[in-house]
Amino acid sequence: MMRSLLGRIRRKLSRVRTQITSPPSTTEKQAIRRLRDQPRSLVLWLDLIGLSAPGMPEALRDQIRSHDLTRTGVILGFKDELESRMGADLDAAYKRLEAESAASVCADVMAEMIRLKTIAQCRDAHAEGNYYRDAEPYMQKQWDGVIWPIIQNLDFQHVLELAPGHGRNTEFLRRLATSITLVDVNPNCIQACRERFGERVDGCQFRYFVTDGDSLAMIDSESQTLVYSFDSMVHFDSSVVKAYLHEIARVLRPGGSAFLHHSNYGTVAPNSDWAHNPGNRSDMTAERMRAFASEAGLEVTFQRLSGLADGWGLEDLDAFSVLRRPDGR
Ligand SMILES: C[S@@+](CC[C@H](N)C(=O)[O-])C[C@H]1O[C@@H](n2cnc3c(N)ncnc32)[C@H](O)[C@@H]1O
Repeated sequence: MMRSLLGRIRRKLSRVRTQITSPPSTTEKQAIRRLRDQPRSLVLWLDLIGLSAPGMPEALRDQIRSHDLTRTGVILGFKDELESRMGADLDAAYKRLEAESAASVCADVMAEMIRLKTIAQCRDAHAEGNYYRDAEPYMQKQWDGVIWPIIQNLDFQHVLELAPGHGRNTEFLRRLATSITLVDVNPNCIQACRERFGERVDGCQFRYFVTDGDSLAMIDSESQTLVYSFDSMVHFDSSVVKAYLHEIARVLRPGGSAFLHHSNYGTVAPNSDWAHNPGNRSDMTAERMRAFASEAGLEVTFQRLSGLADGWGLEDLDAFSVLRRPDGR
């Protein structure tokens, strides 16, 4: 999976690099002056991020390094997409430079860049490949041994499965649910699920949506009894998980729950890039999940770490969290 991703990114990168002809700015002042004419230029913002880095806290400097936020980094492969998605925010950030330090403005620009870059990278890494075929045979064992003991008492009436891939979990969920809503960032995955399940199977109704990678805008508020995600969120950067949690809190019915399988590798590498970590795990942690849940108004009703015994390559690599939307909200 990662080899084909790297090949694709390398090809994109070499194409984009040939388009960047201006030499990098050498001072913050020069970088800001250049941004005046092109406030949406990703490359000019990357120059300013590099120049203002010495004024940033160590954690942010770590993120610049791990995500290679430079004019030669992987991020360049997503230049057009990021410039288009960040356009209005970059205009606003440029205006803030009149009154605020470059380091504090760049901190916000970086956060958005990292969220969008990791979404695009994770999407492209899973657009195709043998994972879906290879993972399917393990599902029964994972469902019986790991998943079912945690979720058996939850309400399966209306299930939203986030990031279903080709539907190996869906195959089990559909036997319990009245409706299943599948949401994935890859149109290919949604298409594969549509071909597999169609509109209805054995009394379970299916709906399909492609997301932009951190929102559930197409889903009605308070419409779902369970949000389920297994072996997908483990790759999502903490900023993406945080954005999704607010959406999950919105779409859950009061009393509804979310079963989320996510990374805990952030305990080892807190500011890291998922693409370089073991098992492509992200910077999420069980502790971060509890903090994000609380911020989104969700209770944590269950949490445990997951590692070698569950079949993952390192002890405590992942975590399972069950979150609940309180009845009275
Ligand atoms: C490793 S596959 C796992 C699929 C499925 N959960 C399974 O267990 O077979 C990861 C899935 O996450 C999806 N994905 C990646 N980033 C996403 C995002 N930001 N939002 C929604 N889906 C995403 C991919 O398209 C893919 O379907």
